[in-house]
Amino acid sequence: MATPATVLHQPESQSESRLPAHIERLPRPSPLGRAAELAFLRWEKRQLAPTERFWRDFGMHIVESGPKRLLARGTGTAPCIAIAEQGGANRFVGPAFRMSDDTDLQAYTKALQATPLSPARIPGGGHGVELSDPAGRSVWLLQGQARAEPLPNRAPVTALTNSAVHSPRVNRTVRTLIEPAKVIRLGHLVLQTVDFASMAAWYLRVLGLIPSDVQYLADGSPNLAFCRLNLDDTPADHHTLVIVGAIEEKYEHSAYEVIDQDALGQGYQVLRAQGYHHVWGLGRHLLGSQLFDYWRDPDGFELEHYTDGDLFTADFETTYSPFDMSSLWAWGDDVPASMKPQMNLRTLLRIMRLLQEKRITVQRLKLISAALKAPARPWL
Ligand SMILES: [Fe+2]
Repeated sequence: MATPATVLHQPESQSESRLPAHIERLPRPSPLGRAAELAFLRWEKRQLAPTERFWRDFGMHIVESGPKRLLARGTGTAPCIAIAEQGGANRFVGPAFRMSDDTDLQAYTKALQATPLSPARIPGGGHGVELSDPAGRSVWLLQGQARAEPLPNRAPVTALTNSAVHSPRVNRTVRTLIEPAKVIRLGHLVLQTVDFASMAAWYLRVLGLIPSDVQYLADGSPNLAFCRLNLDDTPADHHTLVIVGAIEEKYEHSAYEVIDQDALGQGYQVLRAQGYHHVWGLGRHLLGSQLFDYWRDPDGFELEHYTDGDLFTADFETTYSPFDMSSLWAWGDDVPASMKPQMNLRTLLRIMRLLQEKRITVQRLKLISAALKAPARPWL
């Protein structure tokens, strides 16, 4: 039996300025502009009613519910964090970003054939352009959206957390309501892609993102980037967009901030009681440090509740670590098998097609597969 010293380890990580020569730095293309916020996500759903029920139970606030369109916000100042339109498929359509005031949207028309958006399509008004990412996904870049008045939420209980060295809570109890974990805002989006290098370069250039953490395969090539917004001296979430090299172009999950760990826990109870599919949690991430809880919506899309994430200013240096599952979380249950590619006929056919179309090499497939197979927590 292995001794705890051999299995209880944290993955190694290195700052960019001290990277050994065999690890490739993630290229930083010169940005066309700067994203200031992940504004909302757009969905197409065959049936809106099950999505509305899930969004409510997940803690979003429904602001529009018609036969053709469903719109939700959080308790924060964003007028919208999610739109679902009734259509012929259940699919993630794409993200919308609020761009900084000093971004010139015309630059995207010239460089990337972006087209103007009709203001009637933008919740909260303003103006914007639409463009396609390398996977053909629609991306909206917006300016001039009106902010909304915040909605009421309870105060975080964390300010009164007792510890062995600090006891601010005396003659008081912790009694939070069993209610949906009120979503405050949309925090981040994770996308899988077959061509990691092109997808990462495209989003870094379009949104002016800063890589917070980059993960590399055994050959030293980057395969995952946790990217944050460039807000200068204003602290930004460790990641707002994550790009992961994989075997398909896929929405992986999106994440929504709640007030504290008790909101995560009470939200878990509500969703569990309603019979939704629980995916993973509670636990704490390693890269980004968030306390997390993952759920599946009625159409199989993953959504995450989180709280207590890392915040970095623009000058914080990029860190590199090996691509593996163990770096995803610090403690909590093992990553569920459903979060990794399932080895079945569909996956096999997909891989064969990718190889045939020369979109991926056998060598890269082997490297990704080896990284995903390595047991992250051998004792679980
Ligand atoms: Fe996440």
